[in-house]
Amino acid sequence: MSRVEHIGLATLYLGDCRDVLPTIRNVDAVVSDPPYGVKERTARKAAGRGRDGVKRLPRCSKAAGARDWPAVIGDDGPFDPTPWLGFPKVVLFGGNHFSDKLPGASKWIVWDKREGTGPDDNADCEMAWTNLKGPARIHRQVWRGLIRRGEENDGGKSGRLHPTQKPIALMDFCLDQCRLDPAATVMDPYMGSGPTGVAAVRRGLRFIGVEIDPTYFDTACRRIEDAQRQAGLFTTPAILALQSPPAKVEG
Ligand SMILES: C[S@@+](CC[C@H](N)C(=O)[O-])C[C@H]1O[C@@H](n2cnc3c(N)ncnc32)[C@H](O)[C@@H]1O
Repeated sequence: MSRVEHIGLATLYLGDCRDVLPTIRNVDAVVSDPPYGVKERTARKAAGRGRDGVKRLPRCSKAAGARDWPAVIGDDGPFDPTPWLGFPKVVLFGGNHFSDKLPGASKWIVWDKREGTGPDDNADCEMAWTNLKGPARIHRQVWRGLIRRGEENDGGKSGRLHPTQKPIALMDFCLDQCRLDPAATVMDPYMGSGPTGVAAVRRGLRFIGVEIDPTYFDTACRRIEDAQRQAGLFTTPAILALQSPPAKVEG
């Protein structure tokens, strides 16, 4: 680990989550959006080729204001969820891309990104595999390039923070589905810009986040710190008491 930040209810690691995993104890839920091979598909689309490798005619040009992102670390190959499946509650976005490595599940979480708006080349929805009990659930929130419903729709002031950024409201929906005890600890091993952490600390939950890319790690630290300050968490005596010892982590 090259850096560890303790920010109120959150313990954030800059590093590889596979190195952090053996040091972690007492995590009640893993809620995450791991990399699962988007780079390979993006490269194919950029080359104008379909899944069959056949060249397609270009349909639309890049949206105004869209930016080029560096490749997401870990997105150049298939994802192996195995290390994360043993936790009591697990929500993993992109599960439909690695379903061959997942146990059967009844409760998938579907994020409808269109809400009835017309189709384009991108997916209509994203799907999270869970080990939770109960029926499948849908979260509806338009999120198409620069068109985003929710608190991230701030007139473009904050811009996009991550190429595969998830809405805070979506991650909050996932935490809600987990039905966690108020003293629970949530972990996001592929934290990105930190929406799971923001949602968790707003709920007063402990949070452990890991991110390997220093730029996204800094973004997540800033957002999670802002969220705790806005929620007044730094000044609540009960929360301050919870912070000692700082986290259920060894090493
Ligand atoms: C799909 S993105 C998550 C984006 C996040 N949901 C958001 O809204 O910003 C996956 C993240 O995992 C990070 N990552 C990839 N491999 C990692 C690893 N071994 N350990 C920790 N983070 C990793 C990437 O840098 C990337 O930011």
